[in-house]
Amino acid sequence: MAAKIGFIGAGRMAEAMISGLITKNIYTKDEIVACAKTEETRNRVSEKFGIKMYENASEIAKLTDVLVLAIKPKNIPSLFQEEKLELGSNHLLISIAAGVKIAAFESYVPDTKIIRVMPNHCCMVLEGAAGYVRGTKATDSDMQIVKTILSAMGLAVEVKEHDLDAVTGVSGSSPAFMYMMIDAIADAGVLCGLSRTVAIRLAAQSMLGAGKMALESGMTPSQLVDSVCSPGGTTIEGVKVLEEQGFKSAVVDAVKASVKRSIEMGKK
Ligand SMILES: NC(=O)c1ccc[n+]([C@@H]2O[C@H](COP(=O)([O-])OP(=O)(O)OC[C@H]3O[C@@H](n4cnc5c(N)ncnc54)[C@H](OP(=O)(O)O)[C@@H]3O)[C@@H](O)[C@H]2O)c1
Repeated sequence: MAAKIGFIGAGRMAEAMISGLITKNIYTKDEIVACAKTEETRNRVSEKFGIKMYENASEIAKLTDVLVLAIKPKNIPSLFQEEKLELGSNHLLISIAAGVKIAAFESYVPDTKIIRVMPNHCCMVLEGAAGYVRGTKATDSDMQIVKTILSAMGLAVEVKEHDLDAVTGVSGSSPAFMYMMIDAIADAGVLCGLSRTVAIRLAAQSMLGAGKMALESGMTPSQLVDSVCSPGGTTIEGVKVLEEQGFKSAVVDAVKASVKRSIEMGKK
């Protein structure tokens, strides 16, 4: 095989993944190919990464067995029905398309090994959080390939397909909620006299550090809250206000709303 991995679609998510794979030395630029519909995208991506670009998925399916499907869900039917992309039992198709079930792909390409991934957009800075699901024909070594690819871009957790809607709420949508928190804290900083730039940097770094503490300290989030709240101190005053204003239930409702929408979209 001339290439080790091919991307069907070369938009924001594919670019983030290609960048991660090259930066983390998972594949060299010569081992990666991609395709996109417009010449503009093909030129941009080949100039940025030095990879070979093609117009059609069928061309790259001949060059590699490992394909990442990174086009919008609405374009998937025409890929198989009009473009007539044919894949065989040698192919591993890794879909990152939100809401498109493994069964849908298995109906288009019944012999092909499928792994479905729900990444989040923080993979653009190699700090993503992704859930991935094994299709019926995918092997242990296919799962290992996907784990290696996703781990180059952050955290990767294997889940069951019925959990992917929850993953969508917890890590797919939640970066937006985190940005809202950073924005609100920065607003408060400005209110209290800091420049906006300084306030955003301090708030964002605090979010990053708190995330690392939650992942690496071995403590639960509530133990971490306790550890920051000294008796009669500053932090417990703020925690009390958040409790009184229903912070936790607002966040729970936000995640549940995202999960509900994901379930609705999956039924379409
Ligand atoms: N963005 C996110 O935060 C996020 C998070 C999780 C999952 N996802 C999923 O990731 C997928 C990609 O999203 P994105 O934001 O990267 O989309 P995007 O920026 O719109 O990129 C889509 C790419 O697909 C190409 N394309 C469309 N039809 C094609 C075809 N038939 N053959 C080959 N290439 C084709 C487009 O080519 P042109 O550029 O030439 O038009 C474009 O490069 C989606 O399915 C989405 O659900 C996205």
